Amino acid sequence: EKSGFDHFMLKEIHEQPETLRRCTAGRLTETDIELANFNLTAQDINSYNKIYIVACGTAYNSGLVGKYAIEKLAKIPVEIDVASEFRYRDPLVDESTLVIVVSQSGETADTLAALREAQDKGAKVVAICNVVGSTIAREADDVIYLQAGPEIAVASTKAYIGMLMSFYMLAIYFARAKKTLSDIDSKRLIDGLKALPNQVQDIINNSEEDIKELSKGYADHEHAFFIGRSIDYAVAVEGQLKLKEVSYLHSEAYPAGELKHGTLALIEEGIPVIALATQKSVIDKTLSNIKEVKARGGVVTGIIIEGEEEIEDLDYRIEIPKADELLTAILSVVPTQLLAYYVAVERGCDVDQPRNLAKSVTVE
Ligand code: M6R
Repeated sequence: EKSGFDHFMLKEIHEQPETLRRCTAGRLTETDIELANFNLTAQDINSYNKIYIVACGTAYNSGLVGKYAIEKLAKIPVEIDVASEFRYRDPLVDESTLVIVVSQSGETADTLAALREAQDKGAKVVAICNVVGSTIAREADDVIYLQAGPEIAVASTKAYIGMLMSFYMLAIYFARAKKTLSDIDSKRLIDGLKALPNQVQDIINNSEEDIKELSKGYADHEHAFFIGRSIDYAVAVEGQLKLKEVSYLHSEAYPAGELKHGTLALIEEGIPVIALATQKSVIDKTLSNIKEVKARGGVVTGIIIEGEEEIEDLDYRIEIPKADELLTAILSVVPTQLLAYYVAVERGCDVDQPRNLAKSVTVE
C-alpha cells in the first residue's frame, strides 16, 4: 500500500523519521547502547585487532560511514569490501577479526557467501539486517535488526538510514566496551542520535518542494558528479548510486580532493555537481574544490549545514540542521534521495522497478 504516495520510494523516504525511531527503540539509554540478545562480550570486543565490513550496493555504502564511526569512536581499524570481491580473494580473516555483514534482505548471495567464508576462517560475524529470520540473520552469530519494516522499492532508502543508525549504535557500543568513549561524549552522541528523527522530518518538510523544482534542471543532463570529504564522501557514494539506479543518469562520486587527479577534466559548462559540505573540520578544503568546479562552469548544488552564510559559490543551497559532525550522514543523504526520486520522475523512469534490477539479488 502506497498510502497516498505515487511510488513506494517516496513513501519510504517519508517513513524515515519513523524508521529511525523504531531502530533506536529500547536501545538508547542516557550514556549507553543496549543491544538485546547480543552475544559478543566486552572481552570479545577488546580482543579484535581488525573489523571487516562486507556488503553489496547500498548496504556497502552504509559501511563506508560505519568505518568512520567505528574507527573514530572505538579505535579499531576497519576494512571494507564488496562481498563479491571479499569472498574470492582469500581475505585475511581469523579469530581475531570481527566481520560485520550488512544486508537489507538478508538473502544477497555474495553477502551470504562472504559470511560463510568468514565463519569458516574462524571469525565471528555480526549481521546488520532488516528481514527477520532471513538466511543471513539466521546464520550470523549476532544480529542487529533495522526494524525498518518491509522495503518495497528496489532503490533502498529507509534501510540505508537504518543501517547508518545501526552502525552508529554499534560504534558507541564497541567504544564503551573498549573504554575509548567517556560518559560525557557518549551522552552527547546519544542525545544527537535521539534528535535525528525530527531533524530528518524537518529536512523533508523544508526542502522537498525546492528539490522537486531543482530536479527539472537535472532531467536533460547525462552526467552528474557528487563530491565531498570524509563522511560527506561516503554519503556522496550513496547519492550517486541512487541517482544512477532510478534515473539512469550517469553519476559518479569522488572525494573532493581527488578532483584534480582526473575528474576535473570532465567538468565543463553546465555539468551538475552536488557538493556535500557538512564537515566543519574540512570545510575550507571542500570550499576550495567547489571554487575549482565553479571556475570551469559546473553548476553546484551544495548540501550544507544551516546558517553557514559564508559559503558562497553555490548555485543552489540545500540546508540541513546542525548535528555532530559524525552524525550528519543520516541528514545529508535525505536531499540526495529526494533528488534521485524527482529526477527519475521527471525523466519518466519506472522509479520503483528500475530496469535490469531486482530487490533481492540471490544469484551471483
Ligand atoms: O538486500 P541487500 O541489502 O543485501 O542488497 C544489497 C544491494 O543489492 C542493494 O542495496 C542495491 O544496491 C539497492 N538496489 C540500492 O538501492
